[in-house]
Parts: sequence; C-alpha cells; structure tokens
Amino acid sequence: MYRTHNCGELRSAYINSEVTLAGWVQTVRKFGSITFTDLRDRYGITQLYFSENMNGILAEKPIGREFVIQVKGRVVERTNKNPKLPTGDIEIEVTEMTILNGAATPPFTIEEETDGGDELRMKYRYLDLRRPPLKKNLELRYKVNRSVRNYLDTQGFWDIETPFLIRSTPEGARDFVVPSRMNEGQFYALPQSPQTFKQLLMVSGYDKYYQIVKCFRDEDLRADRQPEFTQVDCEMSFVEQEDILNMFEGLFKHVFKDVKGVEITEAFPRMTFDDAMWHYGNDKPDIRFEMKIQNLKAVNKVYCNALNSVDFKVFNEAETLLAICVSGSSEYTRKQLDELTEWVKRPQIGMSGVVNIKHNADGSFKSSVDKFFNAEKLQEIGDFCGSVKGDLILILAGAETRTRKAMSELRLEMGNRLGLRDHAVYKPLWVIDFPLFELDEENNRWVARHHPFTAPKPEHIGLMDDLSRYADIKANAYDIVLNGTEIGGGSIRIFQRGLQEKMFAALGMSKEEAQDKFGFLMGAFEYGAPPHGGIAFGFDRLCALLGGQESIRDFIAFPKNNSGRDVMLDAPGNIDDSQKKELGLA
Ligand code: AMO
Repeated sequence: MYRTHNCGELRSAYINSEVTLAGWVQTVRKFGSITFTDLRDRYGITQLYFSENMNGILAEKPIGREFVIQVKGRVVERTNKNPKLPTGDIEIEVTEMTILNGAATPPFTIEEETDGGDELRMKYRYLDLRRPPLKKNLELRYKVNRSVRNYLDTQGFWDIETPFLIRSTPEGARDFVVPSRMNEGQFYALPQSPQTFKQLLMVSGYDKYYQIVKCFRDEDLRADRQPEFTQVDCEMSFVEQEDILNMFEGLFKHVFKDVKGVEITEAFPRMTFDDAMWHYGNDKPDIRFEMKIQNLKAVNKVYCNALNSVDFKVFNEAETLLAICVSGSSEYTRKQLDELTEWVKRPQIGMSGVVNIKHNADGSFKSSVDKFFNAEKLQEIGDFCGSVKGDLILILAGAETRTRKAMSELRLEMGNRLGLRDHAVYKPLWVIDFPLFELDEENNRWVARHHPFTAPKPEHIGLMDDLSRYADIKANAYDIVLNGTEIGGGSIRIFQRGLQEKMFAALGMSKEEAQDKFGFLMGAFEYGAPPHGGIAFGFDRLCALLGGQESIRDFIAFPKNNSGRDVMLDAPGNIDDSQKKELGLA
C-alpha cells in the first residue's frame, strides 16, 4: 500500500497513529542535524520531521524539490504550530523513507506565487497544475460540471453525444477542417457547436437534451476565447422562450448556490437588446453598477435641448453624443483628465478626445468647453444627465457605432477605477429581443445575428419580404449575461422547411447552396419536426467568473496560448510527406 492517508487530512486527533504518506517534496529545510520537509499532494501539505537518527538515510538517499517519496512514521504534535495550514498542528516523525522517483530541478517555483513567466508555465503545464491556484480552479470546474449535471438530471434531460467530424455549422467563426484519407480531397469540419444535431434530436423526439461538449472555432483569441472551448449545450421541444428562460435561470440559481453558496431568490432582470445598447452601449451590460449612458444626441436626433443654439462644431457635427456621470470624481486633476484623454485616444477606443464637465461639490459647474457653454447651459446638461454634486460628467462625440462602443468601454473603465466591479458580486441578467439580422458592414450584406436557425418573432415574419425593414426584425433570441460577460446564448428555432428556406434566401444563399449545405435539416423538418428552442453556455467562462477571473485560460487544464498554440506539445506541427500524400495534400 502506497499510503494510508493523504497529505491534507491528518489533524491532532491522529496523534500517535502510525501512518504512511506519499507525495511530492515541496521544500527541504535543514537545521543542524535535523531536517524538515513539506510533503505535498492534491489534498494538501504535511510537514515531515527527520530526527537526528534519520540523517543517515537522507545522506544516503538525498532528496530535492519535486522528488516523489513515500514515508512511514508517527503523527506527533508540533511544537511550532502553523495556523495557516490545515495540518499545521501536527507533523510526521519519519521512521522510513523510500524515493519513488527523483526529479530534475523544476524550471519555476511550484508554490502559490511563482517566478515562472507565462510561456514557461504553459510549456511545463503539468508542473504549473501542481500549484494551488490552478488546482483550485480545476476543482471549481469539476464542481460546476457536477452541479450542472445534477440539475439537468433532476429536470429530465438526457446527455447525448454528437459527432466531431461533420460538415460546417455556421456560428459566425471559421471552421477547423480535417482532411479525409478515405475520401481524398475532401474535408470534415469540426463543429463550432452541435447546433444542427441537437435540432435533429428534437425531430427524433428526445425533447430534453444536453451535452457538456467541446466546440471548435477558428477566430481571433481574447482572454475569454479559446479555439477549442466547452459548452453546456441544451435543447428542448414544445417550449416557448419563457419556458427556456425559467428552466435555465433555475440552473444558474442552482449552480450559484451549490458551488458558491450564493442564494439568488429574485428573478433575473430582463433587458431588451435595444435598451442594453441605449443605456450601456453594448449587448452584455455589467449591471453591478449604474452609471447609465445618457444619450444627448443619437443618430443625429438631439435629445438634450441644451445643445440647441450652441455653436460648437465638435458637438454639432457629431452623429452621436453620449455622456456618463462618474460619481465622486469632480476633483479630477488636470493631469488625471489628460491621462483620460490619452486613454480614449488609444486605438482600441479610437476617439479623438473626451469632454468633461465637473459638477462641483458647491453645486457650480466647470467644463473643458466653457467657451461654448455658459453656466446655465452646463446646468441644463447636468440636469439632463441627472448629475449630482461631486460628479464628473464625461462626454464622447462621434459616429454612432464607434462612439457607443467607446462609451461602453469608458463606463467599464470608470467602474473599475471606482472599484464598482467586485468579483464576489454576481449580477446576472437576460438580454432579450435580439435583432434577427445584422449588417456585415465590411461585405455590405445581412448576416444572421445569432445563427440562421433562429426564428423571427412570428409577428415580424412578414417583414422578411422587405429588405429595407431587415433591421427592424426581432427574434426570440436571448443571451444570459453575468457581470458584463456573455456566458450563454440561444433562441427559439425555425422548425418549418418553408421558413428555413426563406431565411437562407434572406441571407443571400441560393436554393441550391441551401439544399447542398442544409438539405439534411430541411429534409428532417418535413418528417414531423416539433417546435423547439435551446441555449448554450460557455462553460469555461462560467467557471472563470465563478472563480473571480476574466481569463478562461487557467480554468482549462491544457489551454492554447494567444496564437492558438499548445506550447507544451508544440502544436500545430508539421506532418510528414507520406502522411500528406495519403491525405491527398502533397
Ligand atoms: P454561441 O455562439 O452564442 O451560441 O455560443 C454560446 C456560448 O459559448 C461561449 N463561447 C466561447 N467560449 C470560449 N471561447 C470561445 N471561442 C467561445 N465562443 C463562444 C459564450 C457563448 O455565449 N449553438 C448556439 C447556441 C444555441 O443557439 O443554442 C451557440 O453556439 O459564452
């Protein structure tokens, strides 16, 4: 038997027990003729005590960091207790020691805080995973997984697997493709999601499906994106949007409670897509704090009368003028304001500057545009924005899309500066009534905002015949947003062949192309397809947020780096010529 106990479980109650432990050597500390060692495994750390009598053994079999050893000994009370360690009241007085395996000196320290850089830790991921922060993340991931499964199980969902070698499913990214040896010159695509399969399962009558499943998307990476990531993918039949929102709101409440001990009793707020864009500048509002965007002017329509009859070119010529009131910040110094101007000028934000109006503690106003706005006008703007004494009003002016996006970023930045984005606070909400289509400005064509299987709201189907009304068509599509991150999205689906054909046509697909790519799905709709809808959650994102972080990377055991590489495997890599020839790629 390698061990009788693990390194995290022994307490005072075990004093005088004879035990056998096995694990990794974290530290070796010599004090004259005695030696202390910390022994680590997944469960914790236990201190080993090698008395003078045992020194011969250590001289004969020297141990170092990360050696795997087995020790036998007696649990004794520590004279020098360590209250920071769960096992800190005891130590093992070693009587026998076996080296199970030696270890080269690790390339970085394997402790809570490490001295290893990002790339180095990715290369030796198996060592980094020994560190407590990563271990904690993977434990959390496991618990979220278990909690999700438990909930869906009690609700009658079946976990059904779907294939990875398929044809393209359009989720808006590029496909990863796999060449076929048996069908030379042809390629499989890896699924961007199991979307069409789960719909086919509904046609088969399996009316509550879920899967915790890998999805593959070749897109530019960010902190919250990986080329292969995990979804909790779900679909239900004979449901309306309301049924789905209720079912999965239940799932989230269950997981928050189960995993974090956070009980949310009230219903998640619901916000329309239009309201989210208007008040927060994006479709994933962080509602942990207010600081709503004030629309002084939007798409050339003036809402704030104070702007009328003022001869200020920057404002007059701007398509959109947006403001936020930053509380307690009216005393920003010149330097701080200059720094803020630099911040909005960064290419990611792309504005030419930011106008400020200070609503001073004494009630007076002072602005960077005093030349154009007298005290009365400034007061009027303040009133429009709902500012109070001590607020700093920040205004951005420019083209609608860019300005709204920039203001949304500025709002988040000011929220950060004021410490309003506490990781321990969970503020989920549903964003609903998404537009069915979205204009792809680069290629000047309409694309599906969610995906082409999303149904328009029944009362908007008529508008699909009029290209000029495309922007007005709404879908029963919804996202779940947590603390400013989109953690899930779904929709009620099209389930009739005619409407699906109409949708593909609206997206500029010819009948032949639609039949070639999605004939299997439209064919299935002819054999009794039930009304259905579903949702998928970004499992990595959910775990990261529950772990209080924005980056998903450290919640995945073996992630890719920012260029989509696995640094440890050095993948992607070359394949040899014979393999290429076999695949018809030579
Ligand atoms: P969607 O494309 O919105 O919907 O994806 C669902 C959720 O998956 C997460 N996600 C990602 N997480 C990490 N890395 C990525 N590259 C990545 N891309 C997406 C997000 C997102 O909200 N088939 C539809 C779902 C449906 O309609 O039922 C779908 O995949 O959290």
